[in-house]
Amino acid sequence: MTGSALRVGIHDLAFATAHQVLDLGALAEHNGVDANKYYIGIGQTEMSVPAADEDIVTMGAQAAAQILERHGADGIRTLLFATESGIDQSKSAGVFVHSLLGMGENCRVVELKQACYSATAALQFALGIVARDPREKVLVIASDVARYALDSSGEPTQGAAAVAFLVTADPALVEIEPVTGLYTDDIADFWRPNYLSTALVDGKFSLAAYLRSLEGAWSEYRDRGGVGFDQIDRFCYHQPFTKMAVKAHDRLVTIAGAGLDREARRAQLDASLEMNRRTGNSYTASIYVGLLSLLEHDDADLAGRRIGFFSYGSGSVSEFFTGVVQPGYRAVLRVDADARALDDRAPIGFPRYRRLHQDVDAVAGEDYATAVETPGPFRFAGVSEHVRRYERTTHA
Ligand code: CAA
Repeated sequence: MTGSALRVGIHDLAFATAHQVLDLGALAEHNGVDANKYYIGIGQTEMSVPAADEDIVTMGAQAAAQILERHGADGIRTLLFATESGIDQSKSAGVFVHSLLGMGENCRVVELKQACYSATAALQFALGIVARDPREKVLVIASDVARYALDSSGEPTQGAAAVAFLVTADPALVEIEPVTGLYTDDIADFWRPNYLSTALVDGKFSLAAYLRSLEGAWSEYRDRGGVGFDQIDRFCYHQPFTKMAVKAHDRLVTIAGAGLDREARRAQLDASLEMNRRTGNSYTASIYVGLLSLLEHDDADLAGRRIGFFSYGSGSVSEFFTGVVQPGYRAVLRVDADARALDDRAPIGFPRYRRLHQDVDAVAGEDYATAVETPGPFRFAGVSEHVRRYERTTHA
């Protein structure tokens, strides 16, 4: 089979988030602003907050476990872990997940970083591996905890979530098409120096940079033979907050000269916003949380429909590409489990949120054990001799 004739893409896609939730109304009250600034102005109602023993590894493992439960680990020879909120400067977070899930040793495991873009890099690398040998299966995990300083303007755009997806030949969910448009620009819109656990951001500049990158990536996508706007049925954007995707889609409609009214524009987008509105920003995972949200919440039958994706990672690197939803895709989804993952989170009050936020920064270089809190299947148990320890819980 030649590479060009081969259909490759996302075969399965699973979701996990942290097990606690803060209503953004509590943050609005603390900040003395109208809650509608967050609920409507930035388009976020809640944010997931990791418990003391949850992090990118526990969320990533919980998402990936659902993939392995259904497909087994046989044939998965590559695990790509995409994250902005890495937990070690050297070792891939994926190696911890590989171990927690009992995957075989004949596997390459690596972590990828470029702010919120790296899961898309992982997808493209995975497609290449499968195109070269269609027997290959690649497990991609994207997992992030979005953190800004307390009392900063970025605080309402925090959150936490993970996705895991399996990239194979003859995919059951979304075939990814080959044409892409790329745009890279060396800017300081959002970044996190090695000595900080919270991101720095130039808020308004980051919004403008995102939109400029969309124009650049779309332009190259079209120049390289990508389909016209009118041949794309739905759109899925990186969602640092859902209003950003609305702004982006409005911009794309304008630059493509599509002339759609508000209702038509929102019909192409709205279903993709449902889940992110409740998780908050999940950096690398957010665009694929958006894809899952679209597939689960759009009432139309999307089989055979084309989705346009815009992936943006500050700093900045971005990509526009497309995929076609596969017949029978609904049978692949875990709609009830994903709804439960959001609905069953434990609501926390503002003081506990602040304490958890501060605790992440409190320990450096000392041994410690975390409180047993998560109801999830995996937990971060603490650090001993500078090594992070993870374990399965009794809920596993
Ligand atoms: N009711 C309804 N809407 C209200 C309102 C009210 N009572 N009060 C204010 N609003 C609206 C405002 O009109 C505004 O809407 P528009 O942008 O559509 O005009 C919106 O609420 C936000 O108000 P402000 O711009 O005044 O808010 P802010 O200055 O406090 O900051 C922010 C907003 C810049 C997004 C800030 O939260 C931030 O810096 N976030 C982090 C940066 C970020 O997410 N950047 C996105 C691009 S970079 C990227 O994508 C990578 C990544 O993941 C970080």
